[in-house]
Amino acid sequence: MARLTKYLKFLFHVIILVLINYFIKNQKHIKIEKRIERYIPDMKHILMWTKLSNVEVEGQRYFITHNCHLINCYFTSNRSFFMDLRYFDAIVFNVQDVSRQSSDLPEVRSIVQKYIFAANDSSDNYPVCSPVYDYYFNWTWTYKRDSSIPYKFISVYNIHNEELGNNILWDNFETVPVSKQFKSSLSSKSAAAAIYLDKCITSGKREIFLKNLKICLATYNLTLDVFGPCGTMKCGRTSLKSCYYRIRTTYYFYLALEDSIADDYITKTVLFGYNNLAVPVVLGGAEYNRFLPPYSYIDAKLLGEELTAKLMYEAIQNKTKYYEFFNWRNHYTIKESNVLDACSLCQFLNNEGWLKTGTVYTTFRNWWNPFYTERCHRFGLTAKFQF
Ligand SMILES: *[C@@H]1O[C@H](CO)[C@@H](O)[C@H](O)[C@H]1NC(C)=O
Ligand SMILES: *[C@@H]1O[C@H](CO)[C@@H](O)[C@H](O)[C@H]1NC(C)=O
Ligand SMILES: *[C@@H]1O[C@H](CO)[C@@H](O)[C@H](O)[C@H]1NC(C)=O
Ligand SMILES: *[C@@H]1O[C@H](CO)[C@@H](O)[C@H](O)[C@H]1NC(C)=O
Ligand SMILES: *[C@@H]1O[C@H](CO)[C@@H](O)[C@H](O)[C@H]1NC(C)=O
Repeated sequence: MARLTKYLKFLFHVIILVLINYFIKNQKHIKIEKRIERYIPDMKHILMWTKLSNVEVEGQRYFITHNCHLINCYFTSNRSFFMDLRYFDAIVFNVQDVSRQSSDLPEVRSIVQKYIFAANDSSDNYPVCSPVYDYYFNWTWTYKRDSSIPYKFISVYNIHNEELGNNILWDNFETVPVSKQFKSSLSSKSAAAAIYLDKCITSGKREIFLKNLKICLATYNLTLDVFGPCGTMKCGRTSLKSCYYRIRTTYYFYLALEDSIADDYITKTVLFGYNNLAVPVVLGGAEYNRFLPPYSYIDAKLLGEELTAKLMYEAIQNKTKYYEFFNWRNHYTIKESNVLDACSLCQFLNNEGWLKTGTVYTTFRNWWNPFYTERCHRFGLTAKFQF
């Protein structure tokens, strides 16, 4: 009996040992795997000179949580992250910081690192004034189509859910009208046009366009309702969101007027029309046919106030004509994009060819805004001012 107990004890110990061994091995195994997964020898360190508005987090988190194709990029806004600013692979400067001043800038610079100009707003609102910035930036990251790293405020997708680029070859979709059911969802509309405004005076002078259009529409007995802080109309609460239902049920058109006129500058304001089944009447500096399906909007900049009002009137009178503004929906969807999508930034920082090619924007101020002299004057700054 004693022998059996001894034997059992021995067996028990062996089992425990095997188990512990297995456990340790397994642990090691997990650790090593984790290291392989995490250890990325070629990390790109990006310094945000001041924080980017859609990248609040530090580290790799942005790239992981956004499911970027490449995640070996590291964001920080800590200027003393390294001992020396020259260790960063790239430094990103915000247009808001660069536009009116040039005092807070790095004092040392490496020849291999990329200085990147990033803009989430228009060149008309934020011209760059100081001559310091000519021969300064290696790359640009803006809505302008000829930026080194471009992005868009809105994206168009085809029926296969593929995002379409910038020079879209639109299908010919005259032949497929919208369904009866869809038409009935437009049947409650009774008023011509609405706009929500919270910026009353703009550099694009849209308030003047609005005044003129209102006069032109009045000759057809059509009204233009201005919601929000700059108008007399309210829809429940003060925010634009509370107007969506009202726009959808009541208005034929939504005025998608940009606050400034600049090349390629088309923001998500058109979506307030598209998403609420009101045809957008657009005014801006972009060539709209590059960005939006034909016959899905009225281009007020091309037509002017009188012809715009006439076309609106005709479409309200002739429903067949009005429904044609919705035919594109059988072919495309339009959605808001992620402003300053940092996935593409990481992609570019991983492109060896791009990295090795030394590039610099020599006449940067002019590239960003050809009218910068005049625009900077408006700020009381001359474009030749010195620091
Ligand atoms: C652009 O950035 C500024 C400053 O970071 C921010 O206040 C603004 O909301 C941003 N605009 C957009 C459209 O993201
Ligand atoms: C910035 O980085 C340095 C060096 O890694 C560190 O000592 C410092 O605490 C950091 N500062 C902030 C505000 O995180
Ligand atoms: C606008 O209304 C006025 C008065 O109700 C009417 O005399 C005029 O014919 C109308 N004009 C149009 C274009 O419908
Ligand atoms: C209404 O619009 C359609 C499509 O644009 C056009 O073919 C038709 O002739 C118009 N009808 C009238 C009465 O103007
Ligand atoms: C970036 O621009 C600077 C300033 O003109 C230039 O000296 C440098 O060679 C450029 N570097 C790269 C990597 O493009």
